[in-house]
Amino acid sequence: MTEILPSQAVDPARYRQALALHAAGVVIITGSSEGEPVGLTATSFSSVSLDPPLVSFYVDRSSTTWASLRNAERFGVNILGGDQAELAARFARKGVDRFAEPTAWRLDEHGTPLLDDVCAHVLCLPHTTLEIGDHFLVVGLVTGTELVAPGRPLLYHRGRFGRFLPHG
Ligand SMILES: Cc1cc2nc3c(=O)[nH]c(=O)nc-3n(C[C@H](O)[C@H](O)[C@H](O)COP(=O)(O)O)c2cc1C
Repeated sequence: MTEILPSQAVDPARYRQALALHAAGVVIITGSSEGEPVGLTATSFSSVSLDPPLVSFYVDRSSTTWASLRNAERFGVNILGGDQAELAARFARKGVDRFAEPTAWRLDEHGTPLLDDVCAHVLCLPHTTLEIGDHFLVVGLVTGTELVAPGRPLLYHRGRFGRFLPHG
């Protein structure tokens, strides 16, 4: 483990401010745990490898959703479109049934809950989970992809949702 000298210590507020400037796409990770659909909003999604096809996300160790989702035999990554800020907020809210109406979803042939009307689904088998800092790094082996409504994505920047505006 790298030693952190006092002069290198990072002020948490400044750290958050700086990282909030990094715009990120928004996904909802979904899976079935003991027959119940579970899912959470994440901006930490990334592609990792093409061959083999691997993707990743980071999840907070304190996530109660992850405590269930980690038992899922498969998981889905739902890439959100620009009009789905409400859905993203819903899947980050505690104490609500995230899959109740108006959330529109279905079970795929493997029993993985997938959200309707998103840009795309990335279907995964759990590959590797590593403890790293106060998060887990979760790597998935991609078993399939579905382009659902591949329009403009939902983005998250400085604590707000927004849409992508291409140059030209
Ligand atoms: C835009 C946005 C991005 C988020 N990204 C992540 C993430 O990458 N990893 C994570 O663990 N939580 C992330 N969260 C938080 C979780 O969605 C949320 O805290 C969690 O589902 C609620 O806690 P619970 O899992 O205990 O129910 C994000 C929330 C929002 C609104």
